[in-house]
Amino acid sequence: MLFKKKSKITLDPQHLSLMEHAQQRVAQKKRFHSHLLVTLFLVFFALVLNFAFEYKADFTPFNTHWSFVLATFLGVLLLIHFLKVYLFYSFMGKAWEIQQMEFLLEKQAAKVEKIKRSMDKEATLKATAEWERERQQKNITIIAAAGENNALGKDNKLIWHLSDDLKHFKNLTKGHHVIMGRKTFESMPKALPNRTNVVISRQKDYVAENAQVVSSLEAALAFAQEDDRPFIIGGGEIYSQALAFADCIELTRVHDDFEADTFFPEIDTTVWREVWRENHDKDDEHAHAFSFIRYEKIDA
Ligand SMILES: NC(=O)c1ccc[n+]([C@@H]2O[C@H](COP(=O)([O-])OP(=O)(O)OC[C@H]3O[C@@H](n4cnc5c(N)ncnc54)[C@H](OP(=O)(O)O)[C@@H]3O)[C@@H](O)[C@H]2O)c1
Repeated sequence: MLFKKKSKITLDPQHLSLMEHAQQRVAQKKRFHSHLLVTLFLVFFALVLNFAFEYKADFTPFNTHWSFVLATFLGVLLLIHFLKVYLFYSFMGKAWEIQQMEFLLEKQAAKVEKIKRSMDKEATLKATAEWERERQQKNITIIAAAGENNALGKDNKLIWHLSDDLKHFKNLTKGHHVIMGRKTFESMPKALPNRTNVVISRQKDYVAENAQVVSSLEAALAFAQEDDRPFIIGGGEIYSQALAFADCIELTRVHDDFEADTFFPEIDTTVWREVWRENHDKDDEHAHAFSFIRYEKIDA
């Protein structure tokens, strides 16, 4: 702790513990050296006393009982101290070992936490990829007929009658979910037969005969999740929102400009690629030339 207070240099915990340990060792050795000096002094003092009061002609330093016992006792204490400081003291001491263990445990815990975080992230990425794959397999399709000027309808009605386009629509959507805005639903005489009609409305109490009412496009797609090709059939408001979710557009391009109040959104050719087209001239049953065009979303 001394180093922490005096120095402005920031030390990492491992360095700090090494320095504290070094200080501890210096103190231990100092204590041993003091012990050595005291022992030497006491033995010398005992010898002097022995010499002064119990002198004999055949004197040898430890020939008397009390000085021998005292010197042996002091010697054993010194030896124990020596062994403790220099031999039995396991390299860094118990306290240091515990401290190191705690330090390593902390490091391990941080690593485990990091691994857990990266695993969580990976799991999220996997789930997102899975969802994306499922979504792509779903093939959410927008189906629409629009004039050259993107006209869709006027006064909540279609502007043209093209029987082949109607057949095309029926063939494609048969047996599937058809998702539509409330206004489009109301523009039709009744729910489309042989299809699951899904109507989107913000009105809480809206009731649509033979149709499922939902409160958002997302809810409509969730409702149609078992369908491998749900169709979004309009109108303008719903098409604009659906472009982000759709994988495919089946567009009947009617080759004329029309007066309208509802329009198909502009198709961004950096996002959508034309993959198929079939042209139809105008004839007795068709007042306008038209083309069936399929667009697929370009993979991001
Ligand atoms: N040419 C074609 O292929 C084609 C196809 C379909 C339709 N149309 C024409 O398009 C016209 C209708 O289109 P439109 O744009 O006026 O209306 P729409 O898209 O059919 O329906 C709009 C309504 O859908 C509901 N809605 C829209 N977004 C919503 C959301 N995020 N959450 C909850 N509810 C939402 C709202 O209903 P509430 O007001 O009840 O909340 C909104 O008023 C008609 O003229 C129709 O004939 C043309």
